[in-house]
Amino acid sequence: MKKHIKKQPKDDSPIPPSPLERGLRGEAVSISGLPSVAKRLLETCADKKIVAFYGKMGAGKTTFIKTICETLGVTSVISSPTFSIVNEYSSASGTKIFHFDFYRINSISEAYDMGYEDYFYSGAYCFIEWPEKIEEILPPNFLKVNITVTTQEQRLIEWNPS
Ligand SMILES: Nc1ncnc2c1ncn2[C@@H]1O[C@H](COP(=O)(O)OP(=O)(O)O)[C@@H](O)[C@H]1O
Ligand SMILES: [Mg+2]
Repeated sequence: MKKHIKKQPKDDSPIPPSPLERGLRGEAVSISGLPSVAKRLLETCADKKIVAFYGKMGAGKTTFIKTICETLGVTSVISSPTFSIVNEYSSASGTKIFHFDFYRINSISEAYDMGYEDYFYSGAYCFIEWPEKIEEILPPNFLKVNITVTTQEQRLIEWNPS
């Protein structure tokens, strides 16, 4: 019997490169999969303390940062820094962790006014939402994490391997 070979539809639009082809490590995860991704991120990027989270509103930046903080043993309430630009937490080992949300800043001078250098160059973890608002003052060698909505239940989380 002749095998039925499915014809590939002709499509001139380029196939988007996979995360691996782009040199990124990435995978689609649901909420329940976040703890293991958080652990892996901390392991593979142990030397990088400044982590910038790129993604649209509702992508899952706060949720993933919350999971990373929990992995580091933070027990205080973790939510987006709504009323200030930065929230401060304490890890299990007692070191500080800073969580920024720059969504509401209108000018880079607001980052200067809050004394960003004291945080970014403190050696503590700095997890940053809306880094595109302050890209010019990010220290070199920060870790870039991309979060994309794939389905309602999953997010693609990618970062560049170090
Ligand atoms: N990995 C995930 N899988 C499925 N839903 C997620 C995931 N991460 C976050 N969400 C959901 O997406 C919504 C927005 O998350 P949030 O962290 O507040 O986004 P952001 O901080 O990027 O605006 C929440 O309802 C959250 O439960
Ligand atoms: Mg958020």
